[in-house]
Amino acid sequence: MLHKLLIGTALATSFAFSAHAADVKEVQMLHWWTSGGEAAALNVLKQDLAKEGYAWKDVPVAGGGGDAAMTALKAMVAAGNYPTASQMLGYTVLDYAAAGVMGDLTETAKKEGWDKSVPAALQKFSVYDGKWVAAPVNVHSVNWLWINKAVMDKIGGTEPKTFDDFVALLDKAKAAGVIPLALGGQNWQEATMFDSVVLSTGGPEFYKKAMNDLDEDSLKSDTMKKSFDNLAKLVTYVDPNFSGRDWNLATAMVIKGDALVQVMGDWAKGEFHAANKTPGTDFLCYRFPGTDGSVVYNSDMFGMFNVPDDRKAAQVALATATLSKSFQSAFNVVKGSVPARTDVPDTDFDACGKKGIADLKKANEGGTLFGSLAQGYGAPPAVANAYKDVVSKFVHGQIKTSDEAVTELVKAIDDAK
Ligand code: GAL
Repeated sequence: MLHKLLIGTALATSFAFSAHAADVKEVQMLHWWTSGGEAAALNVLKQDLAKEGYAWKDVPVAGGGGDAAMTALKAMVAAGNYPTASQMLGYTVLDYAAAGVMGDLTETAKKEGWDKSVPAALQKFSVYDGKWVAAPVNVHSVNWLWINKAVMDKIGGTEPKTFDDFVALLDKAKAAGVIPLALGGQNWQEATMFDSVVLSTGGPEFYKKAMNDLDEDSLKSDTMKKSFDNLAKLVTYVDPNFSGRDWNLATAMVIKGDALVQVMGDWAKGEFHAANKTPGTDFLCYRFPGTDGSVVYNSDMFGMFNVPDDRKAAQVALATATLSKSFQSAFNVVKGSVPARTDVPDTDFDACGKKGIADLKKANEGGTLFGSLAQGYGAPPAVANAYKDVVSKFVHGQIKTSDEAVTELVKAIDDAK
């Protein structure tokens, strides 16, 4: 696995990294949290660590979804410059752990009782070979709609419960001269939206079979074709300038009322929060139509590298702070996500956060909690990238029909396995 990770690493990445020996009293963190809401959330952590006497050495690599950040991380690791920790998604943690470059936080985990408080679905990705290699920060979910309330009132819209309701709602916005759907035409955003479309079109069992088990019959089924057709329908409601747009700019369109709705993970709520907007008054959060009861999740993890001994105290401080109950509440209130432990009260969360916490609990207990394929929790990175690529080619017209899309999807996933 090591060679797979490190081969082909381009050292000419776009971030500046000074190679001086990291100070033992600093936490060096690679992440892609560069939007307003994300930066505000990260500040909560910086402040907590400052109280403990640790300085923050920021290694930000812009680009939602983290593809650019993961390229940068590869380069650092290949050069032997391990950060104290890096933001990572699910299967990426396991890849680095298999490559033997992660540290071992098991002692801290035992002391802090992580085994009991972190849900099993997250432990699957933060524990490798019996050792804790990552600290889960949060649980995000992708199957949400974020709606501007004033626009909704203006067009007389109500919560869409089915895909057809959703299309009817988008039509209303269009008729009123508002951009119906705010989308950023980047592959990870398109695929993140498609995760929800597949769940809505095929239901929970189908989502699991296709997007987590990668069952070939499901991937090429009529239900998957229908999912692509539904995606094509949604894309007809996007404005002509969507290509390449960053996700937070799409969120800003909804915040300002230039667009009715964005389909996005609940990091979008971090942007509403940063803009001082209140759910129920300024915006509405609904589950993607036809997906209520299921949660398609991802979780940001701080992957902990095997740093030299004199840097380990800083790493333990970071890990301990990350999974403390007070931090889990304070951070996730700002980030838009929900806690990565099951024993954090929802008191400080807004209505969307409370719903997120309750939905996660229900889905976890009811067997309807599924990993997001677009967000690193459905399959290893190579497969996820193949998926994002096919979805994006379809959205941008390089793949023309849903027949062709499923054929390409099966082939791309097969090649990537
Ligand atoms: C996701 C990540 C979130 C969020 C988003 C946009 O992959 O899990 O924390 O910030 O990217 O950058």
